Amino acid sequence: MAQGILRRYGEHLPITDRTPDLSLCEGSTPLIPLINLGRELSVELYAKFDGLNPTGSFKDRGMVLAVAKALEEGARSVVCASTGNTSASAAAYAARAGIPCFVVLPAGNVAMGKLAQAIAYGAKVVPIEDNFDVALDLARKGAEEMGMAIVNSVNPYRLMGQRSASWEICDELGDRPDWLVLPVGNAGNISAYREGFDYYSSLGRCSGLPRMVGVQASGSAPLALGREFPEPETVATAIRIGRPVNAEKAKKAVSDSGGTFLAVDDDEILKAQRLLAGRDGIFAEPASCAGVAGLMKLKEQGELPEGIRIVTVLTGNGLKDPDALLSRISPIEPVKAQWSVLEEIFRS
Ligand code: F0G
Repeated sequence: MAQGILRRYGEHLPITDRTPDLSLCEGSTPLIPLINLGRELSVELYAKFDGLNPTGSFKDRGMVLAVAKALEEGARSVVCASTGNTSASAAAYAARAGIPCFVVLPAGNVAMGKLAQAIAYGAKVVPIEDNFDVALDLARKGAEEMGMAIVNSVNPYRLMGQRSASWEICDELGDRPDWLVLPVGNAGNISAYREGFDYYSSLGRCSGLPRMVGVQASGSAPLALGREFPEPETVATAIRIGRPVNAEKAKKAVSDSGGTFLAVDDDEILKAQRLLAGRDGIFAEPASCAGVAGLMKLKEQGELPEGIRIVTVLTGNGLKDPDALLSRISPIEPVKAQWSVLEEIFRS
């Protein structure tokens, strides 16, 4: 039987006998060898496909614990700001737990699939005429003023639950990879991976930290480019964040691991998305492909050692944001339903 995070890794999480047994069977996502891309890059490459979680992103790993603990602590509702995935996940777990969920979103900058999810799961959706950073300020205010449980990554349980991805990788590979490459927005996930590897290392289950490479979109890259982004912009709306709340932890994770932050532009992200799908059959959302784009960039610059073992984290499912791809190709026109027409096309 499929187990969720609270059962699979309960002994490593702050669970008490009063913690509700919440689960949508999140986690236990596949570590898929990227055979073709890996060959092109001359590395042993794996994708941790967290887009296969129940709401289609890695957020479910931490959300299940955050909502379970909120229930245990007596919260009557949850609130979050989101670029889309957090809101989908919060809404799903709140629905399962039977409590209301309020989500504050940057209007016009959330992928349609994510918005549809939050609505379907019954959340109260509040789009604001500003960006994610301001939405987060407002969600925090809501939590403070009204006692709602905030389930953004300022909630420590979120990162605790998200550590489970690093444990799954180590359990499967028998150790940490040489490099871990992942997209960075609010910088919670990279911090959670760091804490997860540290913890597993303390149990003797892996040998320290992998070299951590955090990739940002060049239009919203405060960590990679070391300056402020008051008006972040990128096709990868999930990581359209100018003021990451976990910036300090993330910087430490990268420097302690001998890693680096990188910026990739929107064209590089979309090219990586097509490459990942076209070469290895995996459709991930644009933000998730920032890691692959980063690897391609390092390869071009001659900074990717050959033969090393790399895990890149595919944080969200491509089906959440089909517009990012479809709006950039010319429309595919229908043809006459005649074999002669099709035959010509098939033979060309
Ligand atoms: N990838 C995807 C698909 C995301 O949705 C996010 C963040 C990230 C990467 C970056 O993770 O913030 O921990 O550095 N999405 C948040 C949201 C902000 O609201 O869904 P991070």
